[in-house]
Amino acid sequence: MARSLERLRTQYAAKPGDMMKRGGPGGGPPGRGMTGKPKNARMTIRRLLGYVGKYWYKLVLVLLCMLLTTVTSLCGGYLMAPIVDHLALAVNPDTVITMSPFERIADGILNRITAGETVQNWIASGTIQAVSAYVAVALLVLAVIYLVGVVTTYLQARLMMSVSLKVIENIRNDLFEKMQTLPVRYYDSHPTGELMSRYTNDIDNIDVMINNSLVGLVSGLISLVGTFIFMVTTSWVLTLVTIAFIPVFLFGGMMIAKRSAKYYAAQQAALGAVNGYIEETVTGQKVIKVFNHESDCVEEFSLLNGDLKDKQFGAQFWGGIMWPVMGNVSQVTFAVTIGVGGILMCTGGFTPGALTVFAGYSRQFAMPINNMSQQATTILAALAGAERVFAVMDAEPEVPDLETAEATEIRGDVVVEHVTFGYVPEKTVLKDITLYAHPGQKIAFVGSTGAGKTTVTNLLNRFYDIEEGSITIDGKDIKEYPRDWLRKNIAMVLQDTHLFTGTVRENIRYGRLDATDEEVEAAAKLASAHSFIMRLEHGYDTMLEGDGANLSQGQRQLLNIARAAISNAPILVLDEATSSVDTRTERHIEHGMDRLMKNRTTFVIAHRLSTVRNANAIMVLEKGEIIERGTHDDLLEMKGRYYELYTGKKELD
Ligand SMILES: Nc1ncnc2c1ncn2[C@@H]1O[C@H](COP(=O)(O)OP(=O)(O)O)[C@@H](O)[C@H]1O
Ligand SMILES: [Mg+2]
Repeated sequence: MARSLERLRTQYAAKPGDMMKRGGPGGGPPGRGMTGKPKNARMTIRRLLGYVGKYWYKLVLVLLCMLLTTVTSLCGGYLMAPIVDHLALAVNPDTVITMSPFERIADGILNRITAGETVQNWIASGTIQAVSAYVAVALLVLAVIYLVGVVTTYLQARLMMSVSLKVIENIRNDLFEKMQTLPVRYYDSHPTGELMSRYTNDIDNIDVMINNSLVGLVSGLISLVGTFIFMVTTSWVLTLVTIAFIPVFLFGGMMIAKRSAKYYAAQQAALGAVNGYIEETVTGQKVIKVFNHESDCVEEFSLLNGDLKDKQFGAQFWGGIMWPVMGNVSQVTFAVTIGVGGILMCTGGFTPGALTVFAGYSRQFAMPINNMSQQATTILAALAGAERVFAVMDAEPEVPDLETAEATEIRGDVVVEHVTFGYVPEKTVLKDITLYAHPGQKIAFVGSTGAGKTTVTNLLNRFYDIEEGSITIDGKDIKEYPRDWLRKNIAMVLQDTHLFTGTVRENIRYGRLDATDEEVEAAAKLASAHSFIMRLEHGYDTMLEGDGANLSQGQRQLLNIARAAISNAPILVLDEATSSVDTRTERHIEHGMDRLMKNRTTFVIAHRLSTVRNANAIMVLEKGEIIERGTHDDLLEMKGRYYELYTGKKELD
């Protein structure tokens, strides 16, 4: 039965990745597509300034360019005044022209360029050529001014882009570097999809903010102030008329922006749900087919898809209506301004040129205000994103190595004493575990799924630190070794295989980067991987993609074993390393590994009891406790749990 839209939306909108849990404790950040509001904007801005401030010299240049751009645009507009006025004079020489201060300056400059003759003289001479010459010169000056404007606009955009790209490059680097220092525990509570969205959504938003919003805000402010000054000096009466319309702009703009922001957020959430659903359907396609859930899937998808369409409609409608509405309001302003200006012109004290210029200004005056209020939404979203990025950067890293930690040679004498451990405080997973392994010994763990076998190995290499009990290697507490040294000395085949994008050879060599090609092959032979590798199209140079999707599960395990086998570590951990391999191959590996294990301490976790028979000691784990221990023969004699498991009286459950 298909789920309801409500249910689907809550399940998938909150889902930042594939089949992942929700954000971790401490109120994990919202999932993909969500924007949210910053909790501590001031602090976040300060940190962002730390990144941006490094390029202050470029920012100063950007500011300079913005000023020039605004000035050229305003001055260019103003040149229209003397041009129009002189054309008016040419038409009717009796027109009374009272120039505003700026117009007088502009006229003065133009007159100077046209050989110092005043325009009145030219007009008096009555030659149309004279007027044409004036206009031609004015247009030339106009062209030069606008050219400067084009250059400064270009420079400003280019500089700002280089700053913002550099900033997000640095943020990405810092974030990635930080992630390498985070403990395994962090990844337990922060699913892949969620961390991915730090790099995609959040950092993108920061880029947009620095590149567009910040520039829009500052240049909007400059142009607002500049326009205002020019307007007041041209006509304060008309300035008042224009200002009277500002509340209309602000109110209308805000109303629309609010609604569009609401729909935009809903659209993003709906988009997240649709994407999450597609992702899950793609990864789970086989399971869907196995259980014939295709039609349910289509039904559920069309629900989510329809929802997305509705939200997109709202978002696009309200987003698209902004400019037409504002445009019409500014047309009204324009008309009123022309009307009042016309009256002023008739009563004198206002020139046709000044009115032309003013009408243009009044039109563009309100634009920055609107623009700025729109940027506010983007900026808030970007700050919220930046906050989440910084939260990852502030996460507690792995505890630093002890000052006294020393990379002394490790032989592999492992002693675990009275270790009690839980991933979370409320649930104890291992209870009072005590065991030892001498160099070269093979210790096996058997027990049901969830008994705590993997957990024991997680403690050996300090994926998790213990609080009760002690683990020593060669008589030294594992905390007294530098963490990377410890891990270098413990080769592991993890229960979950992972192969990287790269060739087969590179993947095996991952275990020891200085291994020669011969050593790689030897390790592959040891792991019984050589023959199947040779059957691959390009042998050892075959590219593996998508976690080795082109291999069988068993083949993936063999490569993981080869990778561990190539390492010279004195301690080896095999966590169900051969669970997907057939028994014959498993036996092959065992013979190979026996040679390898000779001088190594090996911990083996295996489901098939036949593979652990020759272990020096077998630990039977049940619910986090070692309930039986001894050699295969001891345990059989004991006639306890192991005996039951081995003789098949009881299955591993
Ligand atoms: N990262 C983790 N966070 C919280 N609990 C975990 C984690 N890994 C394992 N557990 C829990 O610890 C218990 C033991 O798991 P594990 O050691 O993987 O069992 P085994 O390897 O024997 O199958 C299980 O109950 C499991 O749910
Ligand atoms: Mg396990």
